[in-house]
Amino acid sequence: MKAVVYDRYGPPEMLRIEDVPMPTPGPGQVLVRVAATSINLSDWETLRGTPAYSRIGGIRTPRHHILGSDIAGRVEAIGDGVTGLERGDDVYGDNLSLKGGFAEYAVAPASALAVKPAQLTFEEASTIPQAGPIALQGTAGAGRGSRMLINGAGGGSGSFAIQLAKRLGAHVTGVDNAEKLEFMRAVGADAVLDYRTHDFTRAGQRYDLILDLVAHRSMFACRRALTKGGRYRIVGGTTRALLRALTVGFVVGRATGRRIGVLAVKAGPARFRPLTDLVVAITPDRAAGLLRVRAEAATTAQTGVEMEALTAASVAALTVYDMVKGVEKGVEIRSVRLVSKSGGKSGDWTRASDDGAARRPARRPGDRVAGRVGSKRKRPS
Ligand SMILES: NC(=O)c1ccc[n+]([C@@H]2O[C@H](COP(=O)([O-])OP(=O)(O)OC[C@H]3O[C@@H](n4cnc5c(N)ncnc54)[C@H](OP(=O)(O)O)[C@@H]3O)[C@@H](O)[C@H]2O)c1
Repeated sequence: MKAVVYDRYGPPEMLRIEDVPMPTPGPGQVLVRVAATSINLSDWETLRGTPAYSRIGGIRTPRHHILGSDIAGRVEAIGDGVTGLERGDDVYGDNLSLKGGFAEYAVAPASALAVKPAQLTFEEASTIPQAGPIALQGTAGAGRGSRMLINGAGGGSGSFAIQLAKRLGAHVTGVDNAEKLEFMRAVGADAVLDYRTHDFTRAGQRYDLILDLVAHRSMFACRRALTKGGRYRIVGGTTRALLRALTVGFVVGRATGRRIGVLAVKAGPARFRPLTDLVVAITPDRAAGLLRVRAEAATTAQTGVEMEALTAASVAALTVYDMVKGVEKGVEIRSVRLVSKSGGKSGDWTRASDDGAARRPARRPGDRVAGRVGSKRKRPS
């Protein structure tokens, strides 16, 4: 099978497409024919090998040579002892422990997967399993009349979190780079800040709940932005910030009547299905809401195709079929680039159909979208 592989931590140039042996499912595992994958910041971190926690299990070289946690696809084979899933089931899940989603086939623990609702495309389903639980657990405690700030709100988890917090009735401030301000407003943020020009801890505002997806500040600064009794939760960021939250943050919080800490997100179907149910329940609106997909694919002529998955990462759903096979015979994908997050341009792409390619929303000439690497697009049967 074809896969996007890497052997060393480093920049996107480390990624290449290769033929690799098909994995076989062990006990409790299934083999999934991957139809779609989404890219999360955790993939970017595990590519780069930074922050340090991304090297757990592989200090010098990556433990897994194929990235890709979030997958959606069809079960092809079942390992011993698997119950509840059968060959031919359409599934989706966060395969964080084994990864391998940037390939035609991936092995995943059956316990990480859920049967995909027919109402969602594979691409849509693949955007939910990792970002969904972060957003759901990160917004717990937001409520009517409360003020919440989400740092890194224009990304995968953040864009879900804005919408969930708004549904709970909170006033939401989203912080991200200037290019994502409009997007954050579009998904419901009441106020937005560009992190490159504004330090939210110095803006004079206080929040009841701060969800930090990309933490790097001192705990004293974060405390300043909290109301008395307020809560600051880190989900990701620099190792230093995480350690400081667990030590200094805990003490500073306690001493000043605030709660500062790290949110250890619980993963798995029981944690991501509630968001899926919500997405399905509001199906007619999802094009305008929860499943707003932001992605961009760049094409090169005849000899090759380069796909770029922009940050806003988890919501950039890619079709693995396109990624590893190209669109038509003779078109070979040379590389898959996870584009550097800062300064990248993003296109807005909203999937509105239940069957992916067949009923996409209209686009303007020149629009570039994920997975669209040519005109003769084929999909896995
Ligand atoms: N705790 C857990 O169990 C767990 C599990 C999985 C993942 N995670 C973590 O969850 C986090 C969420 O990831 P995600 O997939 O939602 O990421 P994402 O889609 O890449 O979104 C992160 C956003 O933050 C922005 N950003 C970067 N630096 C920033 C700064 N200094 N201030 C404000 N915004 C900034 C990025 O914009 P730019 O384009 O400017 O970079 C991007 O829009 C990650 O840190 C990941 O490691 C935690």
